[in-house]
Amino acid sequence: MCGIVGYIGKENASKILIDLTRSLEYRGYDSAGIAIYDSKENKFLIKKTTGTIDRIKQEILNEIDGTTGISHTRWATHGKINEKNAHPQISSNSKILIVHNGIVENYQEIKNNLIKSGYNFTSETDSEIIANLIEFNLAESEIKDALEKTMDSITGSSSIVGISKDSPNDIFLIKKGNSGGLVISENKSGEKIICSDPTIITKFSDSYRYLVDNEIAIISKHKNNFIRENKEPNKRVVNIKTNTILEDNETYQYKMEEEIFYQKKSIKRIIDDKNDLIINKLNESNIKFENIQRVLVIGMGSSFNAGLLGSYYFESISSLKSETINASEFIDSKRIIDSNDLVIGVTQSGETAETIKALEYAKSKGAKTISVTEKNISQASIISDTNVNIGCGPEYAVASTKTFTATALTLYIISVYLSRDNENKKNLENNLLGLDSKIESLLLDTKDTKEIAKILSSKEHILYLGRGIMYPIAMEGALKMKEICYIHSEGYAAGEMKHGVNALIGDNMPSIVLCPPDETYPKMISTINEIQARNGEVIGLIDKDDDNTNKLLSNYLTIESHNFFIDPILYVIQLQLISLYSSLRLKINPDRPRNLAKTVTVE
Ligand code: AGP
Repeated sequence: MCGIVGYIGKENASKILIDLTRSLEYRGYDSAGIAIYDSKENKFLIKKTTGTIDRIKQEILNEIDGTTGISHTRWATHGKINEKNAHPQISSNSKILIVHNGIVENYQEIKNNLIKSGYNFTSETDSEIIANLIEFNLAESEIKDALEKTMDSITGSSSIVGISKDSPNDIFLIKKGNSGGLVISENKSGEKIICSDPTIITKFSDSYRYLVDNEIAIISKHKNNFIRENKEPNKRVVNIKTNTILEDNETYQYKMEEEIFYQKKSIKRIIDDKNDLIINKLNESNIKFENIQRVLVIGMGSSFNAGLLGSYYFESISSLKSETINASEFIDSKRIIDSNDLVIGVTQSGETAETIKALEYAKSKGAKTISVTEKNISQASIISDTNVNIGCGPEYAVASTKTFTATALTLYIISVYLSRDNENKKNLENNLLGLDSKIESLLLDTKDTKEIAKILSSKEHILYLGRGIMYPIAMEGALKMKEICYIHSEGYAAGEMKHGVNALIGDNMPSIVLCPPDETYPKMISTINEIQARNGEVIGLIDKDDDNTNKLLSNYLTIESHNFFIDPILYVIQLQLISLYSSLRLKINPDRPRNLAKTVTVE
């Protein structure tokens, strides 16, 4: 949530800040703002807008000139989406400007006290109290102490970047808790960039300093002064090695479309590079895998759904007890966790607040931890014992597609690694061969998928039904439909229908039934019969060679089976396409669904 940028250098800061803020819009895009110090006039020039920074791009470029500045793209937590609540937030006497990512949990109490001291508030944000509190503390102390006092007074997790009018060429940073990434980067010409995500500044410089919990710094042209520095971290200063995207000559209107079609390449890459991406990392890890008795997988949204598939793999391939838990419930569910547990945090961004918190909790209980991410360095990788990279390259559309399949495949490969059945390992590895060609053929002809999307896009409710290994895929299919089509969709275990859900079957609620050629097949046929007996509409995802189910259905898509364990990847790609084409029919931009952000750094 929220993207933060800062710049100190010799170039016009406006253009640099606009470009980088735009690149961070995957973190939130409801409003934006920029502040640049005008040294000739000795004042800050501030512009804010609802929507994206492009709405004020021309005004900024025409009217704002200066070489130090900060900018922000917002995902609202406190206060409506309007200009007043957009960042930068400014203190009452205009001495302090800040941009913020996170939540100040005790903001109301601080606000009340500041109001008593004569401070005015013009926004509904929690962030405004930070600017005012720094200004308040500054009345009695130097900036260093004012920042420390402010950090100590606020609760919750926050990443804060700001400027004081007393030293307008410096930028200060506060990192409290796990509130989204915050890095300082410097290039050979002495320019400095502060940013939420190092991967968007790789052209600027390949080295950066990643701030961790409880750090405060003041950055000026010639030095980086750490007022508070966490002594422990060993992964803070690194070179960025981003996952290269393999060439794709096709052009796509939307990122989500590009990312769905890219799966023919990303899946091949993971299979080819599994040693570099996964196996070597596990070999180098200090985790004693032979002592592990249980694998707990945690994640949110699509990462949770991929985790459900992972648990299926850990139980059936590694013969280890496994459970996938929604990361937001991990602590509250009061599970017993100990040093024989391996906790795998699945998070493509490496920043999801609930997953980070749950990983920290697992560590505090002595569990061994692995993060499965798309990033080489992130909050999750810093916390966990080992980080495994899903190797599919960065994903920009809000709805996860290639990161879901890359995560599922990564969890499969980890499960094979953990398997103690050495004789069968080779067969399990061979299951992956040729998967990319199957994906390629699936993506080659989307005519029938578009027809199904035509039917579904006019519905108000959809059920997605699966059993066993396909249950997580039903969940994921429903999530995609909710996210980018705003159609109420639910993923259910098919067996659950008789226990209540059947009551919903009616004209406006078709069921998408996942019917692969596996042991669940006879029961899935019963599910189809039962829905049809109640005049429910069924759309099937069935095997290419299934000559029985097609006779039961007027609408279905066929999938060429690859292997029992791997088929979920093929089925989910078909569901991703159904949602994409439904979204396009509904004239929704699938890359930027309403109310959502790609990286969710607040609880
Ligand atoms: C899925 O399409 C969503 N973008 C969302 O559910 C996402 O999977 C979830 O927020 C977790 O994100 P993470 O993988 O970055 O932790």
